[in-house]
Amino acid sequence: MRDMPSYPTWIKRSRIRLFWMLSVAIVLAAVVAGVVWRPGFALAILAVPCIYIAVVISVTSWWLSPQGDDIQAKVHQQIVERVGDGENYLDIGCGSGELLIKLAKTWSGKFVGLDYWPGEWGQFAQTQAERNAKLEHVQRVAFVHGSASRLPFSNGEFDRVVSCLAFHEVKDADDKTVSIAEAIRVVADGGRFAFVDLFDDPKIYGSRERVLAAIRDAGGRIEEQTVLSSVFPLRWPMNTPKVLRYAVIISGTKRAS
Ligand SMILES: C[S@@+](CC[C@H](N)C(=O)[O-])C[C@H]1O[C@@H](n2cnc3c(N)ncnc32)[C@H](O)[C@@H]1O
Repeated sequence: MRDMPSYPTWIKRSRIRLFWMLSVAIVLAAVVAGVVWRPGFALAILAVPCIYIAVVISVTSWWLSPQGDDIQAKVHQQIVERVGDGENYLDIGCGSGELLIKLAKTWSGKFVGLDYWPGEWGQFAQTQAERNAKLEHVQRVAFVHGSASRLPFSNGEFDRVVSCLAFHEVKDADDKTVSIAEAIRVVADGGRFAFVDLFDDPKIYGSRERVLAAIRDAGGRIEEQTVLSSVFPLRWPMNTPKVLRYAVIISGTKRAS
């Protein structure tokens, strides 16, 4: 069989497994309790929230995948189009390399993907990203380990910087805007950036205005801010607050210092 690249979805596989296993365990426990003492069957009600979460994350993973609506690839495409052709690209929180490889297949230049693998994301790994790049026959691609909150790059090192749903995952800085300011720091004067994240989620960022202020303070000029669901329709449960309702695309350029 031909070796194929592996691009897992943004839903943690471990979480899908956990919630289905919890659901089954609670139902089994209720059955056992019910056999011993009839009202024990009522314990099964406790499985309802677990089953609901298991269904939501399983269906979301399906819509994100090529077998469903291919939403993950469509979001990446939005970023690819917004940054355009450049000389050297950085993808922050690159996961399996899916976005970086798409950039490398579309534009010329050099491409660097940074991630904090494996962290909580057991389904993404540096070896997997490297293998994907090899299988996709893309050249001039490198992957480095590091954290978005302290990028191991100098000011203005990249003329194209992208990131997709990674800033809110950064755990080593309390304020998630720290990583956004870091991302802008490494954009060259006049270079372009395009980010997708849950910028409208008040629990993560407080407000979108805080995100925009962090970008401006770091030297970014915002040219576009678009709610993802206005670019293409998101079906249930993708359109819920726990999934992609708060996702926003922000793109722009770095001001000359
Ligand atoms: C939802 S996944 C998105 C992956 C990829 N950007 C994509 O679009 O397919 C979030 C990614 O953020 C990465 N991540 C988490 N904390 C990080 C950190 N401190 N620095 C860099 N990446 C981080 C995870 O390892 C994971 O690959």
